[in-house]
Amino acid sequence: MKKRLLSGVKPTGSPHIGNYFGAMRQFVTLQEEYDAFIMIADYHALNLIKNKKEMQENIFNIALDYLAIGLDPKKVTIFQQSDISEHTELTWIFDTIITIPYLMRAHAYKDAEAKNKEINVGTFNYPVLMAADILLYDPEIVPVGQDQKQHVEYARDIALKFNNIFEEIFKTPESLIMKDVAVVPGTDGQKMSKSYKNTIPLFGTDEEIKKSVMRIVTDSKEAKDPKDPNTCNIFALHKLFLNPKELSSLEDRYKNGDISYKESKEMLYQEILDLVRPMRDRREMYKNNPDMVREILKNGAEVAKEIAKKKMEKVREVIGVKI
Ligand code: ADP
Ligand code: TRP
Repeated sequence: MKKRLLSGVKPTGSPHIGNYFGAMRQFVTLQEEYDAFIMIADYHALNLIKNKKEMQENIFNIALDYLAIGLDPKKVTIFQQSDISEHTELTWIFDTIITIPYLMRAHAYKDAEAKNKEINVGTFNYPVLMAADILLYDPEIVPVGQDQKQHVEYARDIALKFNNIFEEIFKTPESLIMKDVAVVPGTDGQKMSKSYKNTIPLFGTDEEIKKSVMRIVTDSKEAKDPKDPNTCNIFALHKLFLNPKELSSLEDRYKNGDISYKESKEMLYQEILDLVRPMRDRREMYKNNPDMVREILKNGAEVAKEIAKKKMEKVREVIGVKI
């Protein structure tokens, strides 16, 4: 029996290289080893997106993105959160056992509050819905980026608390974070993120990819000057693409003043294209066959529903609403 894995992805826009290396790529390797569930977290995205057309497009696009990078519907259950009503139902039950001060300690909430936003209840409650997403399926592991680690810990806490109050029915999942690429830097050296506008798009056109690569910030050293690879934003990105041998030869060229930043950027651009070309082709194929995509999500929902429904029946039983 394979161990179960579950993760969720928010359909909130086009993925960038940071999303790919930090999160998406893991799923492709892990689908071989695990009984994998990848959920499109559309109800989480509803906190941000309040537009029918945009929501529909985002959901469709993220399905395309994941099929394009190599998720195989024969190996992974891909489904929409909104198709499984048990997620929101379980959220309510968790809401009755956790406290407001506890949720106020979540990074995402504190960040939003620091920005003085009027935070909606859905954003405040975000970790609880995520805990329900996870705990309904009893996954052994939850692969996420570093920034989601706290949310997985919330899910563990909530499972323990529920088990303690009622009956031991939830497994406590582990997060899995790929250490080497925990944070992919953006074109300005900060963490690559949509909110910093420093991204390199994964499914951009050649032109779009080139434009963002050329924008990578460097110091003003000339081609002949020795350069420090460890402080170079371009080099940091090469690390994602090159093997150790290639990397060490590039490192020598940096140290010996044998490469300009421009050449280094052009190399990086080619490395990115080599990675994305086959993915783009697959994305186009699915895009031209939307019924195939709908069918994949429908099948995924059927598999997920079976499990979620059983778990929810158990929850109703142990909390005592079944008489
Ligand atoms: P963004 O910061 O661009 O808004 P999201 O918050 O939508 O990205 O992140 C989606 C997933 O991609 C998360 O699992 C997150 O941890 C991962 N991720 C995002 N940016 C990076 C990055 N720069 N390096 C590594 N992983 C990342
Ligand atoms: N909060 C996650 C993110 O922003 C997405 C998500 C929703 C998720 N539900 C999940 C991740 C369950 C893992 C497990 O990336």
